[in-house]
Amino acid sequence: MSKQIFQPNAAFAADARIKNMDEYNALQNKAIEDYEGFWGDYAKEKLDWIEPFTNVLDESEAPFVKWFDGGKLNVSAQCIDRHLDARKNKAAIIFEGDRGDKQVITYLELYHEVNKFANLLKEDFGVQKGDRVVIYMPMIPEAAYAMLACARIGAIHSIVFGGFSSEALKDRIEDAAAKVVITADGAFRKEKPYMLKPVVDAAIDASSPVEKVLVVERNNEEVTWVEGRDYSYNELIKDKSTECEAEIMESEDPLFLLYTSGSTGKPKGVQHNSAGYILWAQMTMEWVFDVKENDTYWCTADIGWITGHTYIVYGPLAMGATTVMFEGVITYPDAGRPWKMVQDHRINQFYTAPTAIRVLHKMGEDEPAKYDLSSLKVLGTVGEPIDPPAWKWYYEEVGSSQCAIVDTYWQTETGGHIVSPLPGATPIKPACATLPLPGIIAEILDPATGEKTEVDETGYMCITRPWPSQIRGVWGDKERYVKSYYGDVQKDGKAVYFTGDGARYDEDGYITITGRTDDVINVSGHRMGTAEVEAAIKKHANVAEVAVVGKPHELKGEGIFAYIVLKSDEGVADEVAEMRAINTIIKQEIGNIAVCDDMVFAPGLPKTRSGKIMRRILRAIAKGEAITQDISTLEDPSIVAKIEAMVKG
Ligand code: WTA
Repeated sequence: MSKQIFQPNAAFAADARIKNMDEYNALQNKAIEDYEGFWGDYAKEKLDWIEPFTNVLDESEAPFVKWFDGGKLNVSAQCIDRHLDARKNKAAIIFEGDRGDKQVITYLELYHEVNKFANLLKEDFGVQKGDRVVIYMPMIPEAAYAMLACARIGAIHSIVFGGFSSEALKDRIEDAAAKVVITADGAFRKEKPYMLKPVVDAAIDASSPVEKVLVVERNNEEVTWVEGRDYSYNELIKDKSTECEAEIMESEDPLFLLYTSGSTGKPKGVQHNSAGYILWAQMTMEWVFDVKENDTYWCTADIGWITGHTYIVYGPLAMGATTVMFEGVITYPDAGRPWKMVQDHRINQFYTAPTAIRVLHKMGEDEPAKYDLSSLKVLGTVGEPIDPPAWKWYYEEVGSSQCAIVDTYWQTETGGHIVSPLPGATPIKPACATLPLPGIIAEILDPATGEKTEVDETGYMCITRPWPSQIRGVWGDKERYVKSYYGDVQKDGKAVYFTGDGARYDEDGYITITGRTDDVINVSGHRMGTAEVEAAIKKHANVAEVAVVGKPHELKGEGIFAYIVLKSDEGVADEVAEMRAINTIIKQEIGNIAVCDDMVFAPGLPKTRSGKIMRRILRAIAKGEAITQDISTLEDPSIVAKIEAMVKG
């Protein structure tokens, strides 16, 4: 069945950077015909080079690739310094706090703040080029200053989402061997202070690589200060110079690490490098959101995720845009908060996650109508497939059927958008990511043959040529990078990048993402590895075995469903208490985002005779679906009916 098609708003398209499908096709054809010419031209046009690159793409050690070799630049200068002539008094960041407090930071002010921060890191903490700095921060402007200050001096930042527990933070600090942590005392949520510094304290023990902790005093609550280790940003920053020369960086010098979940083992430190990343961050901002000089753009993500990196900080600033940063909760004080913010700041592009749209829809269906949302031009979604009812409400009630919805498909590893509509060009089908962006050679392949899949047939979403903003490696583990991304699909005898997602083409060649094919769950748009959650649950003394699967969830997209086998035969005296105890461990090991929605204390798990847990069966049971698979070869086929009865009961 073909879906309804929404043509771009004609008035918007007339003024857009890519105005129609002919222009899109011309760009994509140019990329296909002359891949290096395409990228080389954009790299020259879009970036300010201290020294020009000599080679566009070096694939000689693929899948380890080099883009723009020989080039020298500095990413913080791309985001700030080069705008000072034309935009020094333009708002770079508009901050709105949880309690409604507002702050506007111009490009000149941003320049001064970042330079002071960079000087502090260098002078007081001895941070040097190549050092890793962990940032564990709330959504306040200082978080952006910290990122850009690291980029300025060539330090590699690794942001850890503020919702992660001290254990999760500790793992990430240690894996990256970070010598500095930048944090805050805490911040505000729903008008109440919450704390971050105690989590950092708990993450640092005697053997920690961390030497210094910098604390931004945001909520001014009492915190413990460790003598000689912890310093107040508010104090140290006072006497710092507002000038700090930007370190000259190679194109392929690392810019940041961001830990993300995979299907096995511990989270991996996805490494992004300088030139290729910032180029694509800027180009996708321009193409996909089509932000104009006087526009105000707002992305509701947290800087702890890749969306916050690329589409709150690096992308918008690289193009010289005005980016809004919000500390609070989008449903507080009520589900009209984002629409009030759109009205107050006259937001032109609004970018959020399907889970947020579902929550806003459910809690405040009529809220958008109470505000003047006429400034909106482009609405974006990211993080998971958007369902048609959420899409419809977003399009009609938030966008008054006037705005393009850009369903942007990408991942931490891709650095920026991969498949997405262009708001002035692409005829949109609801809940469909549509077409690869120009320059991105994304194809759905049959993993068995490496051939493109037929219409309506689900295959593997692959990217068959390297692209500038692609992951450069897994920190400290070369082999894991190759195995995780280049192990599953071959095209013409060559390993190609596999995203981990399934997808299918429709009759127009449009791409619909069908979700992960591996053991990664997408909870409220956050990636969660089943192996990580299982490892946390196993820390409970009475747990013998556990298997975790995803289950569709009305608001979160997917919820976490755990099948737990206890050590003691007697069963559980108080199931609720036991579940609570297990969730407490999950909160300690990972954070609130990994808490299980459902738990079943099963008598055993369905396994093959070789001991492999049959997750497919567990997924079907969790969803209440009939089991179509042959279970007669299982070690104990009777276990399936027993578990089914427990879940239904
Ligand atoms: C999923 C977030 C469908 C996908 C930017 C991917 C999506 C994972 C979409 C990456 C979309 C992201 N439609 N699925 N528009 N966007 N995903 O690394 O499964 O946190 O692999 O990056 O989210 O999550 P990550």
